[in-house]
Amino acid sequence: MSSTRRIPFVDLVSEQSLLGKEIEKAISDVLNEGSFTLGSYVRKFEEEFASFCGVDYAVGVGSGTDALHLALRALGVGPGDEVITVPNTFIATVEAIIMSGARPVFVDIGKDTYLMDVSQLEGAITEKTKAIIPVHLYGQPADMGDICRIAAEHDLKVVEDACQAHGASIGGVRTGSFGDAACFSFYPSKNLGGIGDGGVVVTNSKDVSDRIVRLRNHGEQGKYNHVEPGFCSRLHGIQAAVLRVKLKHLDRWNKARRYNARIYDLLFEDTPIVRPLCRDSNDHVYHLYVIRVGNRDGLKQHLANLNIETGIHYPVPLHMHKWLKEYGYSKGDFPVTEMMADDILSLPMFPELKESDIERVVAEVVNFSLNGSKVA
Ligand SMILES: Cc1ncc(COP(=O)(O)O)c(C=O)c1O
Repeated sequence: MSSTRRIPFVDLVSEQSLLGKEIEKAISDVLNEGSFTLGSYVRKFEEEFASFCGVDYAVGVGSGTDALHLALRALGVGPGDEVITVPNTFIATVEAIIMSGARPVFVDIGKDTYLMDVSQLEGAITEKTKAIIPVHLYGQPADMGDICRIAAEHDLKVVEDACQAHGASIGGVRTGSFGDAACFSFYPSKNLGGIGDGGVVVTNSKDVSDRIVRLRNHGEQGKYNHVEPGFCSRLHGIQAAVLRVKLKHLDRWNKARRYNARIYDLLFEDTPIVRPLCRDSNDHVYHLYVIRVGNRDGLKQHLANLNIETGIHYPVPLHMHKWLKEYGYSKGDFPVTEMMADDILSLPMFPELKESDIERVVAEVVNFSLNGSKVA
């Protein structure tokens, strides 16, 4: 019986039930005040999240995708420009570039951390390059020191895609505070997740903040004074109120994720499994715990048969999606991303994950892998 007990990939219910009363009160306060879109709860959350990231401004928007899109526009990115990012990220990173009117340009990821390979960055810069979007993938900050240095040398903007990295830091400095702007998603499964969609742009620039405040709300500056064409992408009061409750627990949850990752790491020691590498200077927040294994699809199915849920982030490198072909990329262009897409597997990871469940996952992965093939 116990061997078939379900081990979920994420658990969206535990957080709610632990904080149930506080969340219910937060929601009913919003209902009673009718502060549904923007309003006082959004303002308070923006202040608290800006302070959490160590920046001056935060502007709540409708999603992480919108945050990226509006940040690019606010920084002046548009048609004719190129924006550099990685092909191993969620599709939204590239959608945002395309929505801004710019052209996505990829550089491959490194085999050790799965993050942008900075040694390839300068080779991708042209006279059309306007911005770089490093992605803090799986919860680990990208190489912001080198990326910001190269950006400054070439007069480029940096927009951090921190949608998977709430609270992650480099040398004690939090993601969100390195670039010209940084974007977070509050999709429910994120380290800080709402009860629906939501996102935020953080920045130290008043101009960028002011522009996003306009862009998220129909280009409005003062009632019915539309100074530019904008969008409808406002953070909702209920999301902000719930996020304020959860933000107080984020450091503790991230600590629990790091603890779980440490257990995985220790148990995978001296096995054929390739563990995720965390740079010494980085404080990884393990949005995902991603291993590399031989016969990944066989293992995934084997675990599914045992009621252990896993994910693949991401199975199709972005440059290999058919509709992105027009940007001129083809199979073979980004060998590391392509190789990883075949052998990465995301294991169950959330703060409340039990140590005994991690032990069971590891035992099943190792048993299967000892009979399967090794990764390159
Ligand atoms: C790396 C990355 N970028 C952008 C996004 C987009 O966020 P949202 O789903 O809130 O639009 C996500 C969310 O999944 C993400 O993981």
